[in-house]
Amino acid sequence: MDEHSLDTVRAWVQEAPHIAVLTGAGISAESGVPTFRDAQTGYWAQFRAEEMATEEGFRSHPQRVWDWYQYRRDLLQGVQPNAAHHALADFERRHPGRLTLITQNVDGLHQRAGSNGVLCLHGDIFEDRWLDTPRSCCHIRHASAGHPPYCDRCGNLVRPGVVWFGEALPYATFEAAEQAARQCALMLVVGTAGAVYPAAGLAHQARSAGARVVVLNPANSELDGAAHAVLRGAAGALLPQVLSA
Ligand code: APR
Repeated sequence: MDEHSLDTVRAWVQEAPHIAVLTGAGISAESGVPTFRDAQTGYWAQFRAEEMATEEGFRSHPQRVWDWYQYRRDLLQGVQPNAAHHALADFERRHPGRLTLITQNVDGLHQRAGSNGVLCLHGDIFEDRWLDTPRSCCHIRHASAGHPPYCDRCGNLVRPGVVWFGEALPYATFEAAEQAARQCALMLVVGTAGAVYPAAGLAHQARSAGARVVVLNPANSELDGAAHAVLRGAAGALLPQVLSA
């Protein structure tokens, strides 16, 4: 880690009236949650995103996809937020209203660390919703048990409440994220490969609107070129130092 850049970024944090933070799977890696694109350990090294994270994939193999989300839900029950999630929640407590937390993660670890008002761009893995528009017979709490659960009257299937590839982001959440990107003086981009849009576009929007952009990542990311500074390292080591000032 470059001490000079760390000090510079800490000074930027101190100066910034408003900070937006965009997080990705890497912030939960130290909690033991696999990322998507890391070679070998990432989910997309094992599975095809087209099969596991699209509506078409779910319709073709509902049981396989449902069981994979169930496996991920079970894994998440056994992990804890790490130093990076806690550093963000602590900063919010010490500086109410100064930080907007935007995440691509569906794991709920920011909320479990105590962050409030997290803008979850890609939904919540613990939420269930109907695959097709629910009819009057579809009651999610009374869905028949199955892989996935289903409506025993019309056959509608329950799906996880995440945003799959090709689906729109929740409108109001994304609007709020764009507003934070446009209005912040500093954006920290933590633990994301920066490969998925429109989420990654928030860093470009922040930069175009005049904010400083800092990437925190142990490896190269697609947003390094949009950053004024890149801090190489794990989020759990870097964020507590960056935000402690
Ligand atoms: N600290 C910080 N970053 C880390 C750490 C760590 N300890 N470990 C890994 N990383 C970085 C990796 O170097 C990589 O750049 O986290 C990033 C994870 O990238 P992805 O797996 O692509 O995750 P993300 O960018 O969040 O993916 C975006 O893609 O599959 C979809 O919907 C899914 O929300 C997800 C979206």
